[in-house]
Amino acid sequence: MDPAIAVVPMGLGHLRQVLDLGHQVFDTTTKPYTSWSLTAVAEHLDSADNACWVALDSDRVVGFVLGSMEFEHRDDWGYLEWIAVAPDMQGHGIARRLVNVCSEALFARGARHIVTDVEDRNSASASLMTSSGFVPAATVTLLVRANPDEPTDAAEPTLPPITKRDLVRRGRLSVDPPRR
Ligand SMILES: CC(C)(COP(=O)(O)OP(=O)(O)OC[C@H]1O[C@@H](n2cnc3c(N)ncnc32)[C@H](O)[C@@H]1OP(=O)(O)O)[C@@H](O)C(=O)NCCC(=O)NCCS
Repeated sequence: MDPAIAVVPMGLGHLRQVLDLGHQVFDTTTKPYTSWSLTAVAEHLDSADNACWVALDSDRVVGFVLGSMEFEHRDDWGYLEWIAVAPDMQGHGIARRLVNVCSEALFARGARHIVTDVEDRNSASASLMTSSGFVPAATVTLLVRANPDEPTDAAEPTLPPITKRDLVRRGRLSVDPPRR
């Protein structure tokens, strides 16, 4: 554990760095990372009982965890949805601290259980979560059936902006990261 790294509640001022760090470490072309977006971060911040924390090296956000009391229709389950640590700061126990502070906040808010989902090739995340007390509860496999009449390089259909935003938010549509 690196005591120089402070773990503090996430505020509006951290939003840009959190968004950028997520784009750096999540492969947003594949599930479950396709829903990573400004909306995903902002919705967490907007929720009164969020459990969002950042790890700071001075003013630099080197890690974050985004949790909430919103898991589907269960109001007694917390959801630890996103966690990331900057590649040059990994392996120093920062994610462990973030998982613990987020979990403690969610339990204090009345969560009976905390849910997290781990993509099956993400061994670092799986090891982090199982060694933090999470146990496997259910396995969901995303199966895809391609339309045989659809050329594989077909252009994306045009959707009304509001529909598109909603699909992206729910992880059903991926978009290119915003240009910076
Ligand atoms: C997963 C991730 C957050 C771990 O961050 P970290 O700060 O390096 O993790 P920590 O140093 O706190 O390690 C805690 C535990 O996680 C596990 N772990 C971390 N990195 C690991 C790796 N590369 N391989 C295997 N296990 C790993 C270990 O169990 C470790 O405990 P140990 O040090 O006692 O062995 C980081 O690798 C990351 O940001 N990955 C990309 C984003 C991502 O996949 N997020 C999860 C899905 S939302």
